[in-house]
Amino acid sequence: MKPTLAALSLAAITAASTLVTGTASAADDPIVIKFSHVVAENTPKGQMALKLQELVEERMGDRVVVEVYPNSQLFGDDKVLEAMQLGDVQLAAPALSKFGRYTKKLALFDLPFLFEDLDAVDRFQQSEAGQELLSSMEKKGLIGLGYLHSGLKQFSSNEPLRVPEDAAGMKFRIMSSEVLEAQFKAVDATPLKKPFSEVFTLLQTKAIDGQESPWSNTYTKKFFEVQPYITESNHGLLDYMVVTSAEFWNGLPDDLRAELKAAIDEAVVYGNQVAREKDLEYRQKIVDSGRTEIITLTPEERAQWLQAMKPVWEEFEDEIGAELIDAAYASNRGN
Ligand code: LMR
Repeated sequence: MKPTLAALSLAAITAASTLVTGTASAADDPIVIKFSHVVAENTPKGQMALKLQELVEERMGDRVVVEVYPNSQLFGDDKVLEAMQLGDVQLAAPALSKFGRYTKKLALFDLPFLFEDLDAVDRFQQSEAGQELLSSMEKKGLIGLGYLHSGLKQFSSNEPLRVPEDAAGMKFRIMSSEVLEAQFKAVDATPLKKPFSEVFTLLQTKAIDGQESPWSNTYTKKFFEVQPYITESNHGLLDYMVVTSAEFWNGLPDDLRAELKAAIDEAVVYGNQVAREKDLEYRQKIVDSGRTEIITLTPEERAQWLQAMKPVWEEFEDEIGAELIDAAYASNRGN
């Protein structure tokens, strides 16, 4: 028997409505939240996303479903924020280095040698100035829901890097950040903005000489297998902002928004715990692999990197704001 026209159009409407994400398509359909990210699942961000998925399923599974897309499966960081504004993805946690098109303020977090450790980062992020930055992109339709750690970055390279002169003439992959560009130029190296998903191949084929990442990304994406040297520099920070679109977030029923925010906060706490634990674990795994020599800097050598890169602060002082830089720097205990 041939289906009637009415039956066909009903089927089309049902199919279309099940494709709608981020909104309740029918009273009983759960809201689908797509969480897109670029790293491996066994990283702080990967684990945070899975924890959120689990908490949401437990607490509001009948009303909300979180779908997690790791490893740049859905979007790379160059596209994800646009996709969010278009409603194609509802949650992401790009590196703070990747918001340059939306705000200049977050470039703060890329300043080399700004934070001495993650405790200092926590103190600043939880301060009034740090919390205000979460809403710095609202006019552009993006809402920051919280910060998430990855960790302090190390340099890796084809040649040993002990002093800034060793980096001169080398090509380094960077995230899409003007501060990071200036940081490498300050040591006469050539920075290249490339997507995270391309880094391994660029290193393997020697199209670039080095990169900078926390231990978890260097380990889980196997950069250490194609980089004979890692300099334990802890010279900069890779942290994330969990973001959503204002349209999606403000369109949620109040009770659900509150429950979801609580679950996100809890998942972030978990992710931050993973960041601290995995940092040491992954460092050790790289040491145990025997594939990469880890270079420990003497205080004098580290001071040379700081001296070479610190002028970058002044270069970006007007854009970021001197007060903000001072507030962030003041969160270090060593001052
Ligand atoms: C990078 O591009 O190196 C990082 O932003 C990847 C990530 O999300 O940790």
